[in-house]
Amino acid sequence: MTLIRLSLTDFRNHAGADLAAGPGLVALHGDNGAGKTNILEAISLLAPGRGLRRAPLAEMVRDGASGGFAVFAEVLAGDDLPPVALGTGIEPAHPGRRLVRINGGAAAATALGDWLAVLWLTPAMDRLFVETAGNRRRFLDRLVLALDPRHAQHGNRYEAALRARGKLLADAASADPQWLASLEAQLAEHGAAIDAARQHTLAALSAELAQQPDAPFARPLLTLVDSEGEARAEPWTAEALRALFAGRRRIDAAAGRATAGPHRDDLSAVHAASGRAAARCSTGEQKAMLLSLILAHGDCVARARARGRRPVLLLDEVAAHLDPSRRAALYERLAGQGGQAWLTGTEAALFDAMPGPVTRFHIAGGRISAA
Ligand SMILES: Nc1ncnc2c1ncn2[C@@H]1O[C@H](COP(=O)(O)OP(=O)(O)OP(=O)(O)O)[C@@H](O)[C@H]1O
Ligand SMILES: [Mg+2]
Repeated sequence: MTLIRLSLTDFRNHAGADLAAGPGLVALHGDNGAGKTNILEAISLLAPGRGLRRAPLAEMVRDGASGGFAVFAEVLAGDDLPPVALGTGIEPAHPGRRLVRINGGAAAATALGDWLAVLWLTPAMDRLFVETAGNRRRFLDRLVLALDPRHAQHGNRYEAALRARGKLLADAASADPQWLASLEAQLAEHGAAIDAARQHTLAALSAELAQQPDAPFARPLLTLVDSEGEARAEPWTAEALRALFAGRRRIDAAAGRATAGPHRDDLSAVHAASGRAAARCSTGEQKAMLLSLILAHGDCVARARARGRRPVLLLDEVAAHLDPSRRAALYERLAGQGGQAWLTGTEAALFDAMPGPVTRFHIAGGRISAA
């Protein structure tokens, strides 16, 4: 997948920007605060989900603008397909509602996943292995989504049923058991689908990682674990989940939340070479594991989708943290695998040694110029 054109209107510090990019590597350089990450964030909004900052939509509107923003791209979704026009944004009248257009027609955000998969690595993810399970779960679900666009729908329905059950349980005296059972049946159905998709993604990713060398980017061993950090012995089946939720009504009512289920699972990572849990690895080792995970995932998605449909990679400030030999290895791999990767850095020189076709831009004060 390749973004051949990107245009931003009143998106963060970009009043109006329009750029054309080729396949292969895209290098964005500019000073701190120039607007580099904002460009990556705009691209991330062209896939389902909340984008790489998970920010509220209203926050993305340029300060001083009239209240709306727009991101538009022309995307080559595959070798054999004509370009597709993807757009998203908000209008001043409805600041909370994300609008999505595909080839000019209104569409649901989840439909973007049929055309574009985007994977990213940002400095904010450096602490993924030591922060909350919720963030790791969201990270895992994004990986799943790139392989299986329907994952978002299961997730949304599961969350909705979870909230509805929580409300019913909060008022246990008037809770209608039949209504509760029907919500739990929905939880079971979508929960089992979510779990199966996660397991499938982890199996594909692990197989991909197993073929890759430990160097130059550290290889992680990945497993799905429960909220106690214990490896899950069995997949969640719909029957098992129905029984679980029915059996935990009282506990969940007392806790004020659903205390067990796929929404509590966690991604565990172990540094393959040292056998150490990721959370106990050095910052550099953790970054290296995330990088190899993202690269391997790109390979998985490219393999699973039709030819030429490798996800677009957004690598924010990744180059600056690698030593020169690892940086060269990264560029070589990105250029060799095809697809498109957007990289940012504060120095143009970081990108001097990039092989293959490279589109270079200089960003300054929300202005983008070819470099
Ligand atoms: N809604 C907004 N309107 C205008 N400017 C904004 C908005 N949101 C963020 N900004 C500003 O946009 C500028 C660029 O942010 P961005 O994160 O893209 O910088 P960057 O080039 O990635 O810098 P760094 O190298 O420090 O990571 C920042 O000064 C930020 O405060
Ligand atoms: Mg930045």
